[in-house]
Amino acid sequence: MKRASILLVTALALAAGTAAFTQSFSVQLGNPRGPAQPVKFPHDIHAGKLGMDCLYCHYGAEKSAIANLPPVSTCMGCHKIAVTDRPEVQKLAGYYERGEPIPWVEVYRLPDHVKFNHKRHVRAGLTCQTCHGPVQAMNVVVQYPSLKMGWCVSCHRERMNDPGFPASTDCLICHH
Ligand code: HEC
Ligand code: HEC
Ligand code: HEC
Ligand code: HEC
Ligand code: HEC
Repeated sequence: MKRASILLVTALALAAGTAAFTQSFSVQLGNPRGPAQPVKFPHDIHAGKLGMDCLYCHYGAEKSAIANLPPVSTCMGCHKIAVTDRPEVQKLAGYYERGEPIPWVEVYRLPDHVKFNHKRHVRAGLTCQTCHGPVQAMNVVVQYPSLKMGWCVSCHRERMNDPGFPASTDCLICHH
């Protein structure tokens, strides 16, 4: 493929990925085993065995409210060459060749009346694992905390007097 068309495919995948992300995720709250995904992406191999940084793929988590999922092109940076003989990697390549975003099934979702911002929590020094658990050891991502109000509020209460990043328990910081 010529460079221009690679860029176009990437841009389309990014645009379509964003639309799929905000609109068509199906919600499976509290699923103890984690949902079946369209491509069996193993976190334990990538973030565990290969030691990849979470932010390599979820770079939005330190820059914005939302932690993005990576576009297919991020995966293809390696998988044009890496283990192309494996069936799940061939499925991945199929999405890439068709210029289609992967319809990942959502694991975490707060109700619309709650505000949450990744950047603020990551900047306050909380690790991903504090809230999401040992993802680097998970073959399938599961919803680790309850995501109930009590979970948020108990950490905020503990950190009310933190000298650097005091957290508040005021209703209106979390609710519109
Ligand atoms: C190579 C890219 C890559 C790396 C590295 C990576 N992830 Fe992911 N992550 C994904 C993909 C793709 C998905 C969507 C499929 C899934 O849920 O497994 C995902 C899903 C997730 C989800 C669930 C999102 C939702 O739908 O609610 C969380 C939470 C998460 N990752 C956290 C982490 C953490 C923490 C790390 C580091 C320990 C990490 N990820 C490393 C690619 C990556
Ligand atoms: C930095 C390079 C790199 C990136 C980026 C990367 N992978 Fe991989 N991936 C690998 C390597 C290397 C392996 C083989 C590891 C092993 O089996 O020890 C692998 C294995 C896999 C497997 C095969 C698991 C199996 O054995 O069946 C799947 C599926 C996969 N990756 C999907 C993805 C997806 C989806 C993304 C993007 C979200 C991604 N990878 C991003 C390097 C990468
Ligand atoms: C203070 C707790 C907390 C920390 C720290 C945290 N997350 Fe999250 N994460 C959440 C919550 C809560 C959601 C659900 C957000 C929603 O539905 O609005 C979420 C959702 C996600 C999602 C799904 C997309 C989204 O933004 O809704 C991904 C991917 C993710 N987190 C990755 C990460 C990674 C990677 C890190 C570390 C860099 C991280 N998170 C740090 C609590 C946290
Ligand atoms: C493990 C601890 C911890 C958990 C769990 C946690 N927070 Fe926080 N939160 C903090 C800290 C620390 C701050 C202060 C950050 C700062 O001052 O920038 C904060 C700040 C905030 C703020 C104010 C900053 C902003 O983004 O406007 C909101 C809103 C918020 N958290 C919502 C939530 C919600 C909703 C949940 C649960 C879904 C949650 N938090 C879970 C530690 C936590
Ligand atoms: C740190 C964030 C945070 C703070 C502070 C907070 N809430 Fe919540 N609240 C949440 C989250 C997350 C949910 C959704 C999960 C749930 O229903 O437990 C929620 C849900 C609710 C609900 C809906 C329950 C339902 O059954 O649908 C009400 C009502 C509510 N909160 C009222 C309040 C009031 C009143 C205060 C102040 C005294 C407050 N909240 C402070 C995070 C917060």
